[in-house]
Amino acid sequence: MARSLKRTLLLWMLLPMLAIVPAAAALQYWLVLQPTREAFDQALANAAASVASFVRLDGDTVAFDMNSQAERSLRTDQFDSIYYAVLAPDGHPVAGDPPLREPRVAVAVDAVAFVDTEVDGAAVRVAARGVACGAGVCQVRVGETQVKRQQIFRKSFIGTLAGVLAFALASVATIVLATRKALRPLQRLGEQVGTRSLDDLRPVDAIGMPAEVLGLVDAVNRLFGRVRAGSLAQQAFLADAAHQLRTPLASLKNEAELALAAPHPSSMQGTLERLNAGASRAARLSSQLLALARSDAAAQAGMSTDTVDLKELVSEVAVEWVPLALAAGIDLGFELESAPLAGRRFLLRELLANLMHNAIEHAGAGAHVTVRTRREHDATVLEVEDDGPGIPEPERGTAFERFRRGSGAAGVGSGLGLAIVRDIAVGHGARVSIADTPSGRGVILRVTFTGGAAA
Ligand SMILES: Nc1ncnc2c1ncn2[C@@H]1O[C@H](COP(=O)(O)OP(=O)(O)O)[C@@H](O)[C@H]1O
Ligand SMILES: [Mg+2]
Repeated sequence: MARSLKRTLLLWMLLPMLAIVPAAAALQYWLVLQPTREAFDQALANAAASVASFVRLDGDTVAFDMNSQAERSLRTDQFDSIYYAVLAPDGHPVAGDPPLREPRVAVAVDAVAFVDTEVDGAAVRVAARGVACGAGVCQVRVGETQVKRQQIFRKSFIGTLAGVLAFALASVATIVLATRKALRPLQRLGEQVGTRSLDDLRPVDAIGMPAEVLGLVDAVNRLFGRVRAGSLAQQAFLADAAHQLRTPLASLKNEAELALAAPHPSSMQGTLERLNAGASRAARLSSQLLALARSDAAAQAGMSTDTVDLKELVSEVAVEWVPLALAAGIDLGFELESAPLAGRRFLLRELLANLMHNAIEHAGAGAHVTVRTRREHDATVLEVEDDGPGIPEPERGTAFERFRRGSGAAGVGSGLGLAIVRDIAVGHGARVSIADTPSGRGVILRVTFTGGAAA
């Protein structure tokens, strides 16, 4: 499966978030906690300093005379239990709570160290302050359980987590939106190129394309230009070849007819008839190839248009077709209303000729063929209806392909007629459809001109 650019972008933007978000949360948490911890420690150090002011040296003995009011105010705390201890230079407890003696730690005079210990199974943070005691250093320790600290840590953890999660969600949404928006022009380009028919080699619209895609658009447009030039050259060659073939084929047919008309041995009759039929078929094929080359939408794009009334066009052509229809045993009728449109007269004549040729050839002797022109809403409509065998449903989709003939096709055609009809219609911005007749017998070939000739 092809790699999706969108998925790659999303992956490379979202995957790092999985690492970045927890790291950012941890950093944020640490940044908030550190000052809080320091503030609590500082308060503990201050308490140790005020307890230290009650330490005296009485001769050689350490005396401690904190009054009960000072002690009460030291121990009063809404959440935590406060402990204190005064240690002689040798570590011997002078006053306070025995559990605070451990662990031992060395502190210089007026310096403060912090240690962690446990009292009655609860974690206690201890500030130890050094106090001058003659030659040695006494220690004043104040400890506090960690209820307040933990409450604050918990709150800031939840706050940090919520903040980082909200930030992550907003980032993901932004990334998804941005990716979608940035890739839209590429998608549009794909749609523009992907839905093109072979006849449509106009340059792709570069308006609104981002700079990164412009190069691609440019390359696609240059390719279109080359394909278009190649296709025009091919049409020109086809037109030349068909044109060059026409004259010799016409004279061949002429000679065959002359030979048939002149006295000839009866043994030659079959040969001459086949020669005549073959020459007719080849002449028709070369004129159809010429029509095909001219009818190509790309070739038509440069031609100028006239106002053509299909009613008049059919009347002109009818003069040629009535005798042919009569000879083929076809009852040819017309229902003509004014049907003007902007188009190329000689191509529309070719289109009509192919439809009438098909109706006469495929409907068979005894059939009725009706040609209709009319305006309908904003469209100009041309219809050729017959009551012959019709075109079976499964063959309708492919009937317009070049060199495609029906399974039961009559006559000596080459399968180019409907391809020419479609090409001319497309070049005129028109649509060709195969419809059922009201009676259910035969078929209606309908050309609906809506937009006028394609530019
Ligand atoms: N009026 C019609 N009635 C029945 N079949 C038709 C009619 N017009 C076209 N077809 C079918 O469509 C096929 C393609 O038509 P066309 O391209 O003109 O080729 P062909 O050279 O065979 O006429 C024909 O072979 C035939 O089977
Ligand atoms: Mg035909």
